[in-house]
Amino acid sequence: MLLTLADYEAEATRILAPEVAAFVAEGAGASRAVRRNLEAFQRIVLSPRRFVDVERIATATTVLGREISCPVLIAPTGLQQLAHPQGELATARAAARAGTVAPAAVLATYPVERIVDAADAAPVWFQLYDYGRENVDGLVSRAETAGCAAICVTVDVPRRTRMREHGRRHDFRPTSRVTLAHFDGNAPDVRPVLLATLERICATTSLPVVVKGVLRAEDAALAVGAGAAGIVVSNHGGRESGSAPAAVDALSEIVAEVGERAEVYVDGGVRTGDDVVKALALGARAVLIGRPSWWGLAVAGEQGVVDVLNILREEIIETLAQLGCPDVRALDRGYLRTEGA
Ligand SMILES: Cc1cc2nc3c(=O)[nH]c(=O)nc-3n(C[C@H](O)[C@H](O)[C@H](O)COP(=O)(O)O)c2cc1C
Repeated sequence: MLLTLADYEAEATRILAPEVAAFVAEGAGASRAVRRNLEAFQRIVLSPRRFVDVERIATATTVLGREISCPVLIAPTGLQQLAHPQGELATARAAARAGTVAPAAVLATYPVERIVDAADAAPVWFQLYDYGRENVDGLVSRAETAGCAAICVTVDVPRRTRMREHGRRHDFRPTSRVTLAHFDGNAPDVRPVLLATLERICATTSLPVVVKGVLRAEDAALAVGAGAAGIVVSNHGGRESGSAPAAVDALSEIVAEVGERAEVYVDGGVRTGDDVVKALALGARAVLIGRPSWWGLAVAGEQGVVDVLNILREEIIETLAQLGCPDVRALDRGYLRTEGA
């Protein structure tokens, strides 16, 4: 029976080819930051209120002015046909059915136009890296024309990522199995996103810009100063550096710095509804899920991703009822308790 995201993880790991399962699960640097993300949520404890009517629980909120049914977005991930033949199209349909946002990644295996089409009227963000000015300008205008609702610039991959340990040992090359939709052959070399590049993107696109991969308050302030409307506090699911802090541990200082001027989201290690509630209590507007969407996709395509989102939504409702908080939008630090305190 698939009752929890952990069940989906186990089932996906059984179904996927071992090298693909490892590609999804693994992190950089002995996966230390992958584990750190998970452990950080365990350390945060909630403090329930009593004498509150929780008969009705509201989970809807907005991101960038669009209503979503529940504060859980799908994280941008490329190469989704490694998990399922319908890949990004299935994820986009699932997000639309669940009333949330699924970004199209520049490393997607279906083109952004088809992903926007699959999402129907639901908002689709376009995630990209810095592949040089000409490529970036071309991709941003392609995303605008396709009807995307936001541009998401990922800033935590300053150079081409080396395959992680398992991948290197087994010479796993994802692009020999699936085809990138936005490039002929391999993607160009990625460059560090510099502030001037971010300022130029923000100044030239009519779409809101979300900056993903920030872990320090001063970087969040620079990104918002450059014109970003949203910040994703993220260590890329621990996939880029084993020594990065847990994203949720970096959340508070970033909310304190830019929370009045931009929406702040967080991803990395969200596996249960109470993880979502903890992140919102710390000031996040919403969370994103990366690996769990792959587990759903691998197990049952579109329906699997819908199921994963529904499990989280049910768990959020249960957690809020226990917490004495009838509305996700009312969550704040008052619901937190430091363990041992
Ligand atoms: C298989 C896989 C592919 C990913 N591809 C991208 C990508 O193309 N662009 C990006 O910004 N982040 C990418 N990420 C990172 C996710 O957007 C997200 O930050 C991370 O998965 C969140 O952690 P979680 O997996 O613990 O939920 C990828 C993650 C995974 C697992």
